[in-house]
Amino acid sequence: MDQYAVFGNPIAHSKSPFIHKMFAEQTGQSLHYAAILSPLDGFAESVSTFIASGGRGANVTVPFKEQAFKLVEQLSPAARQAGAVNTLIYQDGKLLGDNTDGIGLVKDLLFHGVVLQGKKILIIGAGGATRGVVLPILEQTPASLHIANRTAEKALSLAKHVPSFARVTGSGLNDIPDTSFDLIINASSASLSGDSPNIDAAYMVNKPVCYDMVYSKEDTAFNLWCQQQGASMTLDGLGMLVEQAAQSFYLWRGIMPDTQPVRQALRMSLSQA
Ligand code: ATR
Repeated sequence: MDQYAVFGNPIAHSKSPFIHKMFAEQTGQSLHYAAILSPLDGFAESVSTFIASGGRGANVTVPFKEQAFKLVEQLSPAARQAGAVNTLIYQDGKLLGDNTDGIGLVKDLLFHGVVLQGKKILIIGAGGATRGVVLPILEQTPASLHIANRTAEKALSLAKHVPSFARVTGSGLNDIPDTSFDLIINASSASLSGDSPNIDAAYMVNKPVCYDMVYSKEDTAFNLWCQQQGASMTLDGLGMLVEQAAQSFYLWRGIMPDTQPVRQALRMSLSQA
């Protein structure tokens, strides 16, 4: 049977085996998908052992996405821009690296009827999560994309390094040069510690759609704050997780699974946890 896996540390709580098992059943694909705990200093060895034992592809999660970027022999444009790889594909004796996080975000937004074309987008945070999604967002041709970060220099530097796209700007959280956003994406890691990034309510004047890339059983602190400020819709990152997985599955198997039943099952298991 074809072998797939997700590498991470920690990995026990990864939803990826659950998601890919459902995808495989739904599409009638015969494959096995495991969660592999890689030692922090042994990622490359873990991947080569997996490939040697018949591994065809893998997902990569925290903290190995940057190491995977360095490890692969060929990078997709999305992975190159992200500086990180979340999908490994072993093909014709070669290890290829892609990044499906950004397309996962865009597809989740589209799934909820949020079109990015011509819209004014604010993204909060300038770390790996933001780098991973900038290019696929820009490919949707928004009117503008502003990156705001607690540490302003990181946002400015990231905005400057987006290749061949105009209309990307950067600033600190308190000197965002516009207020009328259609969509605000929280890509900071604040939600992971139950916090909301400290932005002014003035940026909510347009009643934007708000998207937190983190997901949890209850609304995240950011989404709660957005609701209080009159957001037209709040979404969390559960759909993005499922969509990035679907895109990886497609890269490996050439079949795009239906994400809807998997979204439902995952939300249900979350509410029962
Ligand atoms: P990730 O890969 O999840 O993006 P990262 O590269 O460590 O993780 O980046 C974390 C991001 O969240 C950074 O942009 C960080 O801001 P700083 O660059 O100023 O550190 C942002 N962040 C973390 N906690 C935050 C908080 N409480 N409020 C606002 N931004 C926060």
